[in-house]
Amino acid sequence: MSEHKNEDKKVVLSGIRATGNLHLGNYYGALSKFVRMQDDYDCRYFVADLHALTTHPDPGMLHENVKEILAEYLAAGLDPEKNIIYVQSDVPEIAEMYLLMNMHAGIGELMRTASFKDKARKALGITSDSDEIEREICGNQTNRQVNAGLLTYPTLMAVDILIHHADFVPVGKDQEQHLELTRRFGRRFNSFYKTDYFHDAVNFNFGGDAVKVPGLDGSGKMGKSEGNCIYLIDDEKTLRKKVMRAVTDEGPKVPDSEPTEPIRNLFTLMELVSAPDTLGHFRSAYADCSIRYGDLKKQLAEDILKVTLPIRERILDIRGDDEYLSRVVQRGAERARETAARTLREVREIMGIRKF
Ligand code: TRP
Repeated sequence: MSEHKNEDKKVVLSGIRATGNLHLGNYYGALSKFVRMQDDYDCRYFVADLHALTTHPDPGMLHENVKEILAEYLAAGLDPEKNIIYVQSDVPEIAEMYLLMNMHAGIGELMRTASFKDKARKALGITSDSDEIEREICGNQTNRQVNAGLLTYPTLMAVDILIHHADFVPVGKDQEQHLELTRRFGRRFNSFYKTDYFHDAVNFNFGGDAVKVPGLDGSGKMGKSEGNCIYLIDDEKTLRKKVMRAVTDEGPKVPDSEPTEPIRNLFTLMELVSAPDTLGHFRSAYADCSIRYGDLKKQLAEDILKVTLPIRERILDIRGDDEYLSRVVQRGAERARETAARTLREVREIMGIRKF
């Protein structure tokens, strides 16, 4: 079946969970790619508010977060004329198809998903990496943090993607496993119902590798729950302060040594925001041990601000304009629902749900 496909352009679909303001990790992992793809593809971008419910946000906060992310999408340059921009919960077809797709998702594979294990481990206070998790989960029957929505997070994400028959899903490296599950669910559906209805969706990185943006605390990725983020909405002073406080080490002792993780992370950030010769300059200063981390950080802060400050200005403008924001998402929901309703109708039919 190919009538659901736009004949000229590949379909791009992506979203970001509504759990707080967007940071540089979201920007380089996802949002900047969304913007770059908008001229060449049939793009659909949404705010994942149903996914945010898995971690029980305060209702007032969730409401604000959805608005913030929308404003950030638009401020970063997503054009509502070129893209379909919508809020996930405005498309009820997604919720229905999620129910249907859950019939084909195995509890075992969902429990073994890294994102689920991480959250479950944190909620239950387990430190080991073993099967203990499964035992603990069963022993802890009313732990609301380890809820069925969290377990089936990948099913909902698969439906977000499959309902649009997306070809490309620009996301950061941490989402690769969810994409793999999406392909698995789509293929399983096809083989169970002897159809070729769904096709594989893949990540999109403009020919490079998936980006992993490090945090400022010396190790690991930038993440809301790690408290190591630079936000698009950070003002100049806050941002400079954060960068100047980034973890470093005592400095290279011998020429041409391998940088430690905190320093590698600063270089990785610099690769994203700075000009190649700036990066080259600090790399050779590191190699000949003349580097001063204070200078490196000052330059890094400067170059980050060049990216974020103009976006910040626009966020401040747009987020106060409720009327504009609601016009954008109403139109977006209408357009998203055209495809979603058709897919849901076809899926129901394939699965044998009553037609008469
Ligand atoms: N899981 C993604 C994240 O945490 C958000 C998301 C939900 C998403 N549904 C999606 C991303 C569909 C791409 C496609 O960032």
